[in-house]
Amino acid sequence: MARKYIVEGGSNLEGEITIRGAKNAVTKEMVASLLAPGVTRLRNVPDIGDVDITRRVMESLGCKITHDAEAGTLESDTSSLATPEVPAEYSGLNRIPILMAGPLLHRFGRAVIPMMGGCGIGERPLDFHLQGFQSLGAKAEYRDGAYHFNADKLTGTRITLPFPSVGATENLMMAATMARGTTEIRNAAIEPEIVDLALLLQAMGAIISQETDRTWMIQGVDSLRPADHRVLNDRIEAASFAASAVATRGDVFIRGADQLHLLAFLNWMRRAGGEFEVRPDGIRFYGRDRKLKSIAAETGVHPGLMTDWQQPLVILLTQAEGMSVIHETVYENRFGYVEALNRMGAKIQVFSECLGGRDCRFRQLNHQHSAVIWGPTPLQGAEIEIPDLRAGFSYLVAAVLAKGRTSISGVRYIERGYDRVVEKFRALGASIQVVEE
Ligand code: EPZ
Repeated sequence: MARKYIVEGGSNLEGEITIRGAKNAVTKEMVASLLAPGVTRLRNVPDIGDVDITRRVMESLGCKITHDAEAGTLESDTSSLATPEVPAEYSGLNRIPILMAGPLLHRFGRAVIPMMGGCGIGERPLDFHLQGFQSLGAKAEYRDGAYHFNADKLTGTRITLPFPSVGATENLMMAATMARGTTEIRNAAIEPEIVDLALLLQAMGAIISQETDRTWMIQGVDSLRPADHRVLNDRIEAASFAASAVATRGDVFIRGADQLHLLAFLNWMRRAGGEFEVRPDGIRFYGRDRKLKSIAAETGVHPGLMTDWQQPLVILLTQAEGMSVIHETVYENRFGYVEALNRMGAKIQVFSECLGGRDCRFRQLNHQHSAVIWGPTPLQGAEIEIPDLRAGFSYLVAAVLAKGRTSISGVRYIERGYDRVVEKFRALGASIQVVEE
């Protein structure tokens, strides 16, 4: 049965929450465990839908997964891996199965992976993945609703990605760990979650280094062994709650927020008038009695302003004085969610031009990828439906800010990626009821 959140708005978020492991690292690290027969142990694992989906996919392949949601530990026993074919029923759920291509190729010489899912925030093709595998010597093609990969043994090569794609970098990195010879991935993604994956792979026995200028070098080894790894904290969860604290003119200590991985975000937060205090075990964010200011910013690959920080930042900017501009350069269609915010009283207009920054690869392609936000605008409660994960969190913050009651449906999106989100909002004073539809 589908569930809804009913939010009574008007709270200033105050108190303390603890960040857990990063959604966009843990699921990839579960996949990495397929490379080494035996039990790999992950710690700081968040209690989110995507971990559950990934667990189910891996179990369907014969793995034994034990997840203690309370303790945040997950053991992945891949010694009983029995098939390289991901069942079609897992198509469309998330974007993780395609990352199994490399590990399954190493263990079986072939892999069959059904069509991908994930949030509808752009076309999200997989051409970089397929071309990368072809360069590594695999036969990689899409037919009959699935991606088919075949290779007796992968061979190291030099790959230059057309764009620093997170998923393609992770996929090719895992595939390269046991390829014959050395693989160089140029123009690669270098997000902290990818570095965390590289750390796990190194602990498993891989030889992997980050060179200057977005290049990963991976020297193939014959085999990998299981490891024990603590997943890095979720910088998207941290930034989402930080923006919420400031937007609601509250005061929240985010235990586990890591300054190193929030560098760009913290600068934008300060430019927008929010403040923070860095402590040894986290960061306190506050907006009480502060004048929020408009900004012009653009999202980009690491170390830029993350595309996944954009949505909570937009909510904050609806409360800032003046006209803000956000230019989204990672996904061509990541402003679909603003229409519902406008119904709540926000004043946001989207444009296909590259506003507020340099021209990006979406220029003149008619994608609505720039937004202008006028503020401050009071928000009112409404009935809204979540279109994707990060938009979902921003709707929750908008609902907390709004006058009156907001009913939010499609909450499975939020729960796919945010650990115990209702519990955390309630701990900060928000009034949220969960009802069955
Ligand atoms: C990852 O998606 C994250 N998902 C996204 O988070 C995140 O927004 C994104 O990286 C950017 O940081 C996961 O880690 C599960 P990409 P991914 O490949 O790997 C284009 C969330 O809410 N591209 O870096 O799928 C693509 O269309 C999610 O947690 C190609 O053209 O992103 C996009 O425009 C949303 N061809 C750009 O590159 C390809 O073969 C970046 O995509 C691959 C990508």
